[in-house]
Amino acid sequence: MTERFRTIIEPFRIHSVEPLRMTTADERRRKIREAGYNLFALRAEDVLIDLLTDSGTGAMSRDQWAAIQHGDESYAGSPSWFRFLEAVRELFPFRHVIPTHQGRAAERILFSVIAASGKVIPNNTHFDTTRANIEFTGGEAVDLVIPEGREPRTIHPFKGNMDLDALGALLARRAADVPVVFLTVTNNSGGGQPVSMANIRGVRALCDRHGVPLFLDACRFAENAWFIRMREAGYADKPVADVVREMASYADGMTMSAKKDPLANIGGWLAMNDDVLAEKCRNLLILTEGFPTYGGLAGRDLEAIAQGLKEAVDPDYLRYRIRSTEYLAEALDRAGVPIVKPAGGHAVYVDARELLPHIPPLSYPGQSLAVALYEAGGIRSVEIGTVMFGRRADGSEAPAALDLVRLAIPRRTYTQSHMDYVIEAVTAVAAHASELYGYRIVDEPPQLRHFTARFAPL
Ligand SMILES: Cc1ncc(COP(=O)(O)O)c(C=O)c1O
Repeated sequence: MTERFRTIIEPFRIHSVEPLRMTTADERRRKIREAGYNLFALRAEDVLIDLLTDSGTGAMSRDQWAAIQHGDESYAGSPSWFRFLEAVRELFPFRHVIPTHQGRAAERILFSVIAASGKVIPNNTHFDTTRANIEFTGGEAVDLVIPEGREPRTIHPFKGNMDLDALGALLARRAADVPVVFLTVTNNSGGGQPVSMANIRGVRALCDRHGVPLFLDACRFAENAWFIRMREAGYADKPVADVVREMASYADGMTMSAKKDPLANIGGWLAMNDDVLAEKCRNLLILTEGFPTYGGLAGRDLEAIAQGLKEAVDPDYLRYRIRSTEYLAEALDRAGVPIVKPAGGHAVYVDARELLPHIPPLSYPGQSLAVALYEAGGIRSVEIGTVMFGRRADGSEAPAALDLVRLAIPRRTYTQSHMDYVIEAVTAVAAHASELYGYRIVDEPPQLRHFTARFAPL
């Protein structure tokens, strides 16, 4: 029946609702000033549509809430752990699975073991916590996405691909210093763009040639698999789970934040085939996260993730998910708002540098736009640009490759009319772009400054 019609609907109906608090523009201007113009410092109740992140902010299903009731809180060997382990291995059949409270805990453990001063870790684009965890050990994090991945307007089906020539050259020079090659699927910091199966295979071949392991930062594995299915020859009819398993088959391990595609509000894991590495990682896990059959998680969290993993590869869900992101992107594009094209999986990225050419990168055009969207429409977004990436490990500051504002879409949370409101508000702010002004940072921490920095308007 439904295949006769073009409209792609939310493949669920609403079972319980959360109220949204309406605020006035005056109230929002006051709130953001009090927050030091940092959107992370706002109270969530003062936000109308929260597109800060898709991480842990999605709606769980009826079946996930039901699974939570099966949570077994035994310290060791809980049945919830075994259900989690089975669900993870169904998609990612690595020998060792180490649960963690979220993705960055997996990163911290892994890089504490394998990274150090003098080591270099390439990725298509490191996410901020990945880069920070590498740099914290003294190691060097290098981004080697294909050139198209740095060009907001260039259309390419797999803009998250690794630049194989650049990776090959790095490995030819320094393979002995590279403890692991990472590939982030989809490439969050580069616009949520997918990586093709051919590219994953290509990275694998280079890793084999130089004897270096390959790990996936697989937070958005299901969205990446859906793009492969839509855009890469030979995959259109394959079950999503098979595409995911093939992606995993080229890797030696992975880090995961279960707050993304696994459809949970918290959780993550580190997985690998290497027995010696796993032993070292488990020892660190026990030190800070917990016993290896729960990591930093409650049994009920393990249950929610296990059920979420089954729902994440449902084609009806992924069709709606990817289409709703495209819907927002297409409307903004039609309205003349410069965005990264094509749309990413989990977010639409507005090109603030292009929209606000009168604000130089070191006056943070992305921050300016993000503040304006909140003041005008109560929409919370996040700057992904010079605020996030501009501070170098040596203390100097330089413009990031791009100054973007990310509108991240929580999974199964907002409806099409919420998105229509976002389209109207962003379009209205963009129409007055020339009136926006830059910011300076008045206070910042040594790492991950975007979370807690305070700003003042210029
Ligand atoms: C690509 C990528 N890697 C790692 C992380 C870190 O995960 P977590 O927030 O669970 O620590 C994120 C979170 O946004 C991410 O997008």
